[in-house]
Amino acid sequence: MSEFVEHARVVDGGVAPDEKGFDIALRPLSLREYVGQKKHVDNLRVFIEAARRRGEPLDHVLFCGPPGLGKTTLANIIAEEMNVTIHTTSGPAIEHKGALAALLSKLEPRDVLFIDEIHRLNPIVEENLYPAIEDFEIDIIAGDGPHASSYKLPLSPFTLVGATTRTGLLTSPLLSRFGVNMRLEYYPPEELMQIVVRSAGLLNIPMDEDGAMEMARRSRGTPRIANRLLRRVRDFAEVEGDGHITKAIACFALERLEVDNAGFDQMDRRILLTIIEKFDGGPVGIETIAAAVSEPRDTIEDVYEPFLMQNGFLQRTPRGRIATRLAYEHLGLRPGQGEQRRLF
Ligand SMILES: Nc1ncnc2c1ncn2[C@@H]1O[C@H](COP(=O)(O)OP(=O)(O)O)[C@@H](O)[C@H]1O
Ligand SMILES: [Mg+2]
Repeated sequence: MSEFVEHARVVDGGVAPDEKGFDIALRPLSLREYVGQKKHVDNLRVFIEAARRRGEPLDHVLFCGPPGLGKTTLANIIAEEMNVTIHTTSGPAIEHKGALAALLSKLEPRDVLFIDEIHRLNPIVEENLYPAIEDFEIDIIAGDGPHASSYKLPLSPFTLVGATTRTGLLTSPLLSRFGVNMRLEYYPPEELMQIVVRSAGLLNIPMDEDGAMEMARRSRGTPRIANRLLRRVRDFAEVEGDGHITKAIACFALERLEVDNAGFDQMDRRILLTIIEKFDGGPVGIETIAAAVSEPRDTIEDVYEPFLMQNGFLQRTPRGRIATRLAYEHLGLRPGQGEQRRLF
């Protein structure tokens, strides 16, 4: 597979470079517009209302879940609903504690500091963050050598919103400092359909309901992918049809994009095929799979595995990953096929 194709994957939950503006245009701005994740949304509504009545910042919130499920969206909605400013950064972007202090001292009372990929904070920065989120103060060291002195700089009370792909990547001291910890789940097709219909409305794309459902069903449970498929299918509808998205156009386009009826793309299929054909269905270690399909281990664990596991195509065991009967069926293979092959 060429470099270009790898980066142009249609069902990757991450943001492709050409779709930033599109992503922002379709981003819901309030809890009311946010589709799904009902349990979390209902709770957030209560926490936000309570904090507002008390005139306090919202408790620190952690969102975790695979890329494209709406973590950044929720961080922005929190600021919007609290009527405060959001300051957005990411774990790797805060390079040293001076940069952290600069960020923190800019915050106005009740502001939101959003740290994306918070599991990638450098350990020293992370340690300096603790007093900030616990007591709203930071330790500053003035001068150096024998004359250095340390003092505490008070901060405005603020809300830290963190996002991460897996909570397991966070250190436990950091994890324990979040009052609210929400795990976003993959969306069922009906909710993705609502998202596709909403986006098509915003983009003025004429579309049939079953065309929308077809995209929703094949979006790997992920709103960002649903929006991306909509954008690609629109291209096909405009070039190959009259611009109107029907079920037929959607199926045709999705086939051309090599997104199959389970929403898998080439890489999903490659992972399953590798486990089945090269390793007799498993168990096989994650490092071995990563090497065999030439993808970083992190990407496999963050992007591909969760969906394959949740839908019962892949199982994680202490001895490694196993392809399930469903995986064989989906790929049109029989269990034991690998073993039979080994006999020759
Ligand atoms: N619950 C939702 N309802 C409607 N659209 C959503 C929802 N969650 C995500 N989206 C759409 O998907 C895109 C990606 O969401 P984002 O918050 O950037 O995901 P994450 O930060 O988890 O990777 C957003 O631009 C938005 O258009
Ligand atoms: Mg994000």
